[in-house]
Amino acid sequence: MNLSERDQRVIWHPFTQHQTASPAIGLVSGEGAILRDENGRDYIDAISSWWTNLFGHAHPQIGARVKQQLDTLEHAIFAGFTHAPAVEVAEKLLGLLPAQQQKVFFSDNGSTSVEVAIKMAIQYWYNLGTPRTTLIAFEGAYHGDTFGAMSVGARGVFNQPFESLLFEVAAVDLPDDDNFDAVMARFRTLIDSGTVAAFIYEPLVQGSAGMRMYKAVHLEAMLRYAREKRVLCIADEVFTGFGRTGKLFASDYLDTKPDMYCISKGITGGFLPLGLTTCTRDIYDAFLSDDKLKTLFHGHSYTGNLLACAAATASLDVLSASAPMREDLAARQQAAAARLQSHPQLRNVRQLGTIVAFEVHTHGGGYFHQLRDILYEGCIRRGVLLRPLGNTLYVLPPYCITAEQLDKVYAVIEEVLAELTL
Ligand SMILES: Cc1ncc(COP(=O)(O)O)c(C=O)c1O
Repeated sequence: MNLSERDQRVIWHPFTQHQTASPAIGLVSGEGAILRDENGRDYIDAISSWWTNLFGHAHPQIGARVKQQLDTLEHAIFAGFTHAPAVEVAEKLLGLLPAQQQKVFFSDNGSTSVEVAIKMAIQYWYNLGTPRTTLIAFEGAYHGDTFGAMSVGARGVFNQPFESLLFEVAAVDLPDDDNFDAVMARFRTLIDSGTVAAFIYEPLVQGSAGMRMYKAVHLEAMLRYAREKRVLCIADEVFTGFGRTGKLFASDYLDTKPDMYCISKGITGGFLPLGLTTCTRDIYDAFLSDDKLKTLFHGHSYTGNLLACAAATASLDVLSASAPMREDLAARQQAAAARLQSHPQLRNVRQLGTIVAFEVHTHGGGYFHQLRDILYEGCIRRGVLLRPLGNTLYVLPPYCITAEQLDKVYAVIEEVLAELTL
């Protein structure tokens, strides 16, 4: 039995309807933008393995740092103890963020980084003795799959069975030129109620909603109002961090800085799971007290894992030298988007930094539209990994993808589009 067959007997995969899904492809190795399967077939990872892999698979510098760490100390309790990899990650990360970000809380993935931010925000107001519990989030948001993260995310097909258990959140439409005044009016009314603890948002790009991009000036106005009224602002940069959008963080496009950042995915270069929530001194100080009840009682067994932290320190070193590579990819992506603009089957071609996204025109859409599977399978058959969100296709490769590989990605997309009979 090969890997794929053995897998089918014992494994339940994420986001997978096993009744209809093709068997999982058995991977054996990777290098740069390439993933290789057990039959020796190569796939270009044009989605950076769920947006995590920034610098390529099996990156030697990150791998070497993790190997070194393995021989020293692999994991230790993170309450009452600390270690160089964690301290270095925190120092390096804070060095990249605005100076008002002063403390780093460790957890394990993007969803937990969001859970921690939500808990910090709610307990901040509780500890101050002026409880506020309302959260504002955007329509269409995706912040993860744990219950708090689902609650601040859009209601829809992914969380329908749990809807009655999710806490209520004040949802605001994503702003555009047409609805901005209405969005702002609702936002102001919500905030003026005095009950809003925090506003959580994916800055400039809603990833899972279908790479929905919106303008910095609109978000800027919302953040400015929220800050003015002392509502905490939580930037979920789990997807947008580390150069993806053309700046180190999407929040760097804005003058008004958030009170908290949620960080994960690219922090380890895609090597190991790690989540981080950063905050201002003001938030941290609200938890300092002789009263033990004011403690942030949150933690996970693997919080501060040394291997993940070691990968992150190496990844941040690689990041600091990666600007030319990122700029080159952004320029190639901009050129590709310009070429696709006139494609008759595509709509709404958009690009920000290293991200290109567009809709494939169909009659009817939605996440479960059969087009999604046709596009996915058509690309996989041709050796390109793309994972459409409904009829939205996006190209979001590791920064090291070669010109030839990226050309192949777009050539394959055109081939698959040419075959469509819908
Ligand atoms: C903006 C954003 N926040 C949070 C998450 C959740 O991260 P994770 O899948 O690591 O739990 C994601 C995942 O795609 C995301 O895009």
